[in-house]
Amino acid sequence: MGIKSNPLVVLVWFVLLQSLPTAYTFLQKSSTKQDSRMLMTSSSTTTGKAATLAEGALHLFTQTPLVKSAPLSSLVGKEVYLKLDALQASGSFKDRGMAHLCATFHEQGVTKLISSSGGNAGLAVATVGKQLNMNVQVIVPETTKPLVITKLESLGAHVTVHGINWNEADSLARERVGKDPHAQYVSPYDNPLLWTGHSSIVDEVVEALPAVGAMVVSVGGGGLLCGILEGCERQQLATKIIASETEGASSFGQAWEKGEVVTLPGIDSIATSLGATSVTPVALERARKHVGGFASAVCTDAEAIDACVQFAQDHRLLVEPACGAALAVAYSERLRHMYLSDVTAGPIVLEVCGGSGVNIELMHQWKEDYLK
Ligand SMILES: Cc1ncc(COP(=O)(O)O)c(C=O)c1O
Repeated sequence: MGIKSNPLVVLVWFVLLQSLPTAYTFLQKSSTKQDSRMLMTSSSTTTGKAATLAEGALHLFTQTPLVKSAPLSSLVGKEVYLKLDALQASGSFKDRGMAHLCATFHEQGVTKLISSSGGNAGLAVATVGKQLNMNVQVIVPETTKPLVITKLESLGAHVTVHGINWNEADSLARERVGKDPHAQYVSPYDNPLLWTGHSSIVDEVVEALPAVGAMVVSVGGGGLLCGILEGCERQQLATKIIASETEGASSFGQAWEKGEVVTLPGIDSIATSLGATSVTPVALERARKHVGGFASAVCTDAEAIDACVQFAQDHRLLVEPACGAALAVAYSERLRHMYLSDVTAGPIVLEVCGGSGVNIELMHQWKEDYLK
């Protein structure tokens, strides 16, 4: 009797063939499990398309919730999601970029960081630098709120108040770095490491949503915007980007209109965190190259404040007017009509960039001053 006609051999073959798909699925599942475990624990890369961050950087900032806003969805008549970066440890999205930048310098053996920031970037350097046991100095201009200086000092940063605006504080920071071979200068917005850190916002958004119709972000010096555009390019996300700022701090809007960087004679806005007199040229270049539509929005201080007040009522969170500039694109009827009426490809995501220069008293004061 040949092997093929032996009923026992035929039975064994049959059982083996039947179990092959199951064995394949099992192998597939276990390899997927292993991959995802690698992805979860690897601090340098997540997916092929996600930002490649310095070792340990992922642990220095929060992967923030993306929540659907019922009040805003109903107001806009389209699904609106909030990317809640106001929940970062330092109070703003800046933790993302500073995590990647500080972790990179830390890897290179740097122990001392000198930054110039009247607010949120300084708070982020202090927050991240403290976790890395780095020595942090922050030079702030005289316009910096006492509330922010107290927060910086409580994080262990050495604070120097110098100059009438950020540019003067920044000159001192650069001068100190020039004299100290152990110190590293930290720009609040103008460094590719910051942009790559900020680009993690897009990675998290695309992981959570199958399509994005538009993203709205505030623009000051352009660091956040550079990060968002970098993330879109890397993730091949052809979504409309709306960059918003207040009239008195419209260094991006004016540059966008003119086609080149402009320097404002000064900043005249309640949104002091957007107060860079000129934007990084990279923000303009990336905005021009962005596939998917791009718009520059400019709101009044009153529209930014109104957005902050309505946002606090709707979502129980306090944010700075700098963040209000982005929220105003949804809350203001005028801006909604101008920038959101053509969005059809998917939900609108508002980057709630946050900011620490706010409390209940300030909010009351702004309401009195701007909304009466
Ligand atoms: C709360 C907040 N939103 C937006 C911005 C603008 O960010 P960028 O200067 O990177 O454009 C800043 C900058 O400090 C900020 O603090």
